[in-house]
Amino acid sequence: MSLFRKKSIESILKNAEAESPHGSLAKHLGVRDLTAFGIAAIIGAGIFSTIGKASADGGPGVILLFIFTALACSFAAFAYAEFASLIPVSGSAYTYSYVAFGELFAWIIGWALIMEYAIGNVTVAISWSDYFTTLFHNVFHVKMNEWLCLDYFTAKQNFGLVNELLKNGKSIEEINKAPETLGLIEGYAAYRTAPQFLGMHLIFDLPALIINVLITMLVYRGIKESRNASNMMVVIKIVVVLVVIFVGAFYVNTSNWDPFLPNGLPGLLKGISAVFFAYIGFDAISTTAEECRNPQRDLPRGILYSIIICTVLYVAIALVITGMVNYSELNVGDPLAYVFEKVKSLHWLSGVIAVSAVVAMASVMLVFQLGQPRIWMSMSRDGLLPPAFARIHPKYKTPSFSTVITGLLVAVPIFFVDINMVTDICSAGTLFAFCLVCGGVLKLRMDPTAPSSKFKTPYINAKFIVPAIFLICLFLLVFKDQATLQFYLHVDSFTNFLTKLPIYFFFVGFAIFSVMAFRFNFSLIPSLGLLCCFYMLSQLGHKNWLYFSVWLIIGLIIYFVYGRKHSKLAHSIK
Ligand code: ALA
Repeated sequence: MSLFRKKSIESILKNAEAESPHGSLAKHLGVRDLTAFGIAAIIGAGIFSTIGKASADGGPGVILLFIFTALACSFAAFAYAEFASLIPVSGSAYTYSYVAFGELFAWIIGWALIMEYAIGNVTVAISWSDYFTTLFHNVFHVKMNEWLCLDYFTAKQNFGLVNELLKNGKSIEEINKAPETLGLIEGYAAYRTAPQFLGMHLIFDLPALIINVLITMLVYRGIKESRNASNMMVVIKIVVVLVVIFVGAFYVNTSNWDPFLPNGLPGLLKGISAVFFAYIGFDAISTTAEECRNPQRDLPRGILYSIIICTVLYVAIALVITGMVNYSELNVGDPLAYVFEKVKSLHWLSGVIAVSAVVAMASVMLVFQLGQPRIWMSMSRDGLLPPAFARIHPKYKTPSFSTVITGLLVAVPIFFVDINMVTDICSAGTLFAFCLVCGGVLKLRMDPTAPSSKFKTPYINAKFIVPAIFLICLFLLVFKDQATLQFYLHVDSFTNFLTKLPIYFFFVGFAIFSVMAFRFNFSLIPSLGLLCCFYMLSQLGHKNWLYFSVWLIIGLIIYFVYGRKHSKLAHSIK
């Protein structure tokens, strides 16, 4: 069927070389640069910020979540590495899906990746702005106007909430002191003091916008400049992370690690989205395939090295911070700086950490901002997007038009969105992409005519292992965890049913997958990658599934109105 028409690997490689009338991308990247790019993309808002809440919810046992997520990401990383070595062009998961599943899936995944890179960058830009404004205040003792540091809707919502509290007799001082309402005051002040234009309050996050413009300019200017900036930022953040680990280790009080899981499994699982967000980024390396000197050898190495290095650092950091203070204190936006603030002689280190957080997050933005245009370029080369998206700058040799559009796409939501919502949506889009890439490797392995890549995931037959894992999970759920089973089975309203739908999907999908693994002798590593990512997706909450579905429907409309008609593959088949 034409919707599932597939590209051959040979034609993709030929197109990438021949299609751009403006020339090809400059090849400057080696394995060290790729590993650095990976680390640049991975270590950012997640470890400097969102780990705080995950640790407060999960306790010291959050390291288990880091290890589980690292395993899931490593399984998926193998699949990325295999595809990146097989098809070393810029489109990443989008191009891989085109080969494995056909055009419609490729479009869907390309569309989902916008959520990962562009929407992910909205999250990082907002977190960057939070750290930057605090730093600015501490260094220069100048406080920026609140209406220049926040998005419009958060300010409006907080204004309403504070007004309610004031009406109920609370004073501003009381609201400002209580930990649960403290954060509302900033929004209230922003809305109250903002200048107005035609009755509309002018509220926007200026630092987030500025960092977005600067990063867009750098990425537009050239891959070499981006690489140099990225390498420098990576060195700074690794040094700071190592200092946190080695200095912090001396201040660990092991009694803080007990209880290890104070809120049990449910508390731990609350942190899934935040911890997963901390790992997102290694896949972005594969979008630079055309700029690598030896992509087939270096891409798999870069992906796997960066994920291994980050896992070791993350687990060590989680152990240190949960050892330095009681887990319950960690529900703060800057946990790494916070734990050192508590040690009198180490206040200065807390400032150093805040500076490096600003650097770390800028480097995440850099790599994401680099990844998004290259995916659009690939989609445009295939005719699924207008030709301008594939335009390469004659002098800087970067995808110029796509880079500017990416900058705009990140800038516009900065005015409106709430950070928690974009973090979750970004994780959902990325997990979806990981599932498809793992599925793609399984599918290619079932095709005896598929070419073999230079890098191959080690094959272990999943025939018995996957069904056995399914049965063990089922056994544990039915006989050992009655409370969870009752929770899943108890449905008292349609809304309640909707909240549980993702987990039902997971269980049914797991059962079907086990049968398929048995029947087709699936390879174990991509199978586990798919199952782990699907499980995490099922834990993200039904609202994220809803947002994601709306996003996909918009994407499908664009595909049927434009992409399908202009697809070059369709024309070449005719
Ligand atoms: N992993 C990236 C971060 O934590 C997205 O900022």
